[in-house]
Amino acid sequence: MSANDKKDQDEIKNPARRALLKKGVAGGAAFAGGALMAKASQASPDPLITEIQDWNRYLGDGVDARPYGTPSEFEKDVVRRDVPWLTADAKSSVNFTPLHELDGIITPNGLCFERHHGGIAEIDPAEHRLMINGLVENELVFTMEDILRFPRENRVYFLECAANSGMEWRGAQLNGCQFTHGMVHNVMYTGVPLKYILEEAGLKPSGKWILPEGADASHMTRSIPIEKALDDCLIAFKMNGEALRPEQGYPIRIVVPGWEGNMWVKWLRRIEVGDKPWHQREETSKYTDLMEDGRARRFTWEMDVKSVITNPSPQAPITHGRGHTILTGLAWSGYGKIKRVDVSIDGGRNWTTARIDGPSFSKSVHRFYYEFEWDGSELFLQSRAIDEMGHVQPSKNDLRSARGENSIYHNNSIQTWHIKEDGSAENVEIS
Ligand code: MTE
Ligand code: CO
Repeated sequence: MSANDKKDQDEIKNPARRALLKKGVAGGAAFAGGALMAKASQASPDPLITEIQDWNRYLGDGVDARPYGTPSEFEKDVVRRDVPWLTADAKSSVNFTPLHELDGIITPNGLCFERHHGGIAEIDPAEHRLMINGLVENELVFTMEDILRFPRENRVYFLECAANSGMEWRGAQLNGCQFTHGMVHNVMYTGVPLKYILEEAGLKPSGKWILPEGADASHMTRSIPIEKALDDCLIAFKMNGEALRPEQGYPIRIVVPGWEGNMWVKWLRRIEVGDKPWHQREETSKYTDLMEDGRARRFTWEMDVKSVITNPSPQAPITHGRGHTILTGLAWSGYGKIKRVDVSIDGGRNWTTARIDGPSFSKSVHRFYYEFEWDGSELFLQSRAIDEMGHVQPSKNDLRSARGENSIYHNNSIQTWHIKEDGSAENVEIS
């Protein structure tokens, strides 16, 4: 066997190591190859390699055993979860995206968090209608077939509920990024630009606002200024290439990029055009922020720049011990793209710029990574996002000094995870 043959043999035994060495992992100087994984040449043979396993021995299910594919049974814990004590009834409630189990930027359809105010409407698209009324030349009613004959666009956007992280306002509360930050999802929508629909009806010059309305039992309504409606709003019928899920508003929902999730009316059945905002329940007693002086902020539409470390985190502790560690997370802004994400492992004393990887779309989540050598000591992990408009994610103290302590909605402050020496993680606050 030549020296080269010997090397090939070693590499075949340990392909992951070869891939890492070839690519030259970021932070490679500190990375001692071999420390990452067990040596291929262990003294006692590994039965997982030397023994024939059932999946080698028997034929598996054929095609069509799963006409609509579902994840491996080993992924059964990767599910949306709720916080039972948060709401009195599941029909007006929320569950949370398992952010710590995901990678990349797209949220799989079955894992998009759900927020319903009156349960899920189950609508036959053949019986669904979209009405445009109010300050238009022609009041119109569209069938789904009509909607599908307009030109359509594909766009990736995040949707974040204004109440995401609301429980964390006054101090560390829920133990896991799924619960602290999981009211966000990021999906590629296929839809018709709302402006085409409005143009079809003929906007009257006095038409300055629209009021989308849902067909569900909650009849969700929100006022949206006409500039936004004509800018980038979509009437979406597909998410990630397939029909919207019933939970997400099947057969159609309005997409309001960068703006608070409550405005993205699901099961959209009517759009009224008016000359002023309606001040419905969801924009007065709800989805406004009570300030220290007793006044409330009106129309807080944009979702501010925000980020969270998804791994490690309380539901995803470090289990491999000291050594090479992959930290990852998500960043997003309702104002555009993310320009930079900084990461601190010492509670905000020192910051390092993280590596953003994957597509960077406006008003979409961005995926970031920071690879480092963990020395086994306790860590205080934080991430801080900066968007292309120059907005910087604030500390909790900065947020509270600007907005007081009465608020729930629009908490975009920096999150801290305390990593203990055993690798477990806990939600704490460092301001
Ligand atoms: N639209 C209707 N018709 N009914 C609702 O209850 N909930 C709103 C919004 N649109 C709601 C709705 C809220 S508060 C949010 S955060 C988003 O939908 C949640 O969207 P999702 O369920 O796709 O995550
Ligand atoms: Co919401």
